[in-house]
Order: sequence, then C-alpha cells, then structure tokens
Amino acid sequence: MIILKSQDEIKRIADSCHIVAEAIEELKKNITQGITTGELDGLAESFIRARRAVPAFKGYRGYPASLCASVNEEVVHGIPSRSRRLKDGDIISLDLGVYYNGFYGDAAVTLPVGKVGAAALKLLEVTEGALQHGIEHAVAGNRLSDISHAIQDYVEAREFSVVRSFVGHGIGRELHEEPQVPNFGRPGEGPVMMAGMVLAIEPMVNAGTWEVDILSDGWTAVTKDRRLSAHFEHTVAVTADGPKALTKLE
Ligand code: MF3
Ligand code: CO
Repeated sequence: MIILKSQDEIKRIADSCHIVAEAIEELKKNITQGITTGELDGLAESFIRARRAVPAFKGYRGYPASLCASVNEEVVHGIPSRSRRLKDGDIISLDLGVYYNGFYGDAAVTLPVGKVGAAALKLLEVTEGALQHGIEHAVAGNRLSDISHAIQDYVEAREFSVVRSFVGHGIGRELHEEPQVPNFGRPGEGPVMMAGMVLAIEPMVNAGTWEVDILSDGWTAVTKDRRLSAHFEHTVAVTADGPKALTKLE
C-alpha cells in the first residue's frame, strides 16, 4: 500500500530532508585526498546528532555506519572505514538518511576527489542529469514507471547502463515504503502517481555493464566489470504544483 502524506507530513519530511542536505554540504567541504571514509562517517553522525536527529542507516538490517561511502567501482552500500583513504582521481558516492520528528529523509551525491578523468566526470554529469530527468516525470497523473523509463532512456542514450538490483522507494514514517521505484522499465505501468506521494528516486549508473557483485562483507555492491559507478538520490514529493525535491538546498 502506498501511504499518501498530508501537507503537514510533507513539511515534516522536508525538515528531515533539510538536515540530510546540510549534512551532505558539510561532507562536501571535507572531500579531499587523504581523508578516510571512516572520518567522513564520523562527521556525518556528529552533524546529524547535533541537530537532534538520528542517522537512519545505522543499525538498519545490521548496517554498521551512518553513511554509505562508495568509492569508484563501488555502486552502493560501501561501509566507511578508517583505513580507506581517498586519493586524487577517485569518485565517491555519499548516501545519507536521517530520522527526525517521526519522518525519514534520504539523499545521495557522487563527487570527484581532486582532479578526475573526463570519462568519470561525464558519468557524474549523466547520473545527476538522469535523476533530474526522472524527477521531472514524478507528476500526478503519470504512472510510476514513467519515472523509471525516463531514467533508463536518458542513461542509455548516453552509452551508460542502469543498475537493476537496487531501486528507489517510497519514504515517510519508514525509510523504505511502497512503491519500489526502479531505474529501468517500460513507460505507462504501475500505480498512477498522486499528490501526497513521497519517493526517494535514486539512479545508480555504471560506465560498463549494469551487473553487480556483492563483496564478502555482505553489503558493498561493486560493478561486475569493476568499472566506475555513480549514484545520485533525492527525496521527492509529488504535489499539485509538480515534483518538489525536498533534499535540495534552496
Ligand atoms: N539510500 C539507500 C536506500 O535507500 C541506503 C540504504 S543503506 C542501509 O536504500 F544501510 F540503510 F541499508
Ligand atoms: Co534511498
């Protein structure tokens, strides 16, 4: 069942999303070669708790950290580590969720570390563009898979691939609610979108094959061909005035 949110509930989700967005801004300032992903996780957790919010991922199905920090060929769910040091030319995905005042917010960005290659920059640009394109289709009256199709079409037209085994999701009083929001599929399928739906839209885009492996830690997803992957996510409200990306800072 898809839970529709009232305007007051969307305001509360927006408050959670604002904390997520500010925390990501704070992390961005600290992305330099030499910092460890474990240090970034510490910064994220401190920032969230200073706002009297709770890191949403910590303890979720046993996940051990506040932040997902996925470097280069890591697609999602990279576990932060005090021994993983960023180096010049890396790309890093930061995925963060918070729980505040009864509601969740969830967002991700992928950033360059220092000077990165043109192909990697293109991957980041296309993945962020795919998210934006998907958001534009999160319109009342459209079908859910219109988002999925828009993302896949955008990505494949630019010669990259979309990951199949992880999807976006509804979000609200739970981190993961119905519906699932795949980043691929035919248009015009699934539920009709209505004002009050809140969706975490999160394309994961690979330079090579769309297939992934899970490492022996049980969490880290990597590309099967070990080529680069990028991930962007916003929590988006479907409203009578169109889609509102709640995790964007104004
Ligand atoms: N943004 C991801 C998601 O919505 C991150 C979840 S990580 C987990 O699924 F640890 F919480 F599982
Ligand atoms: Co998510």
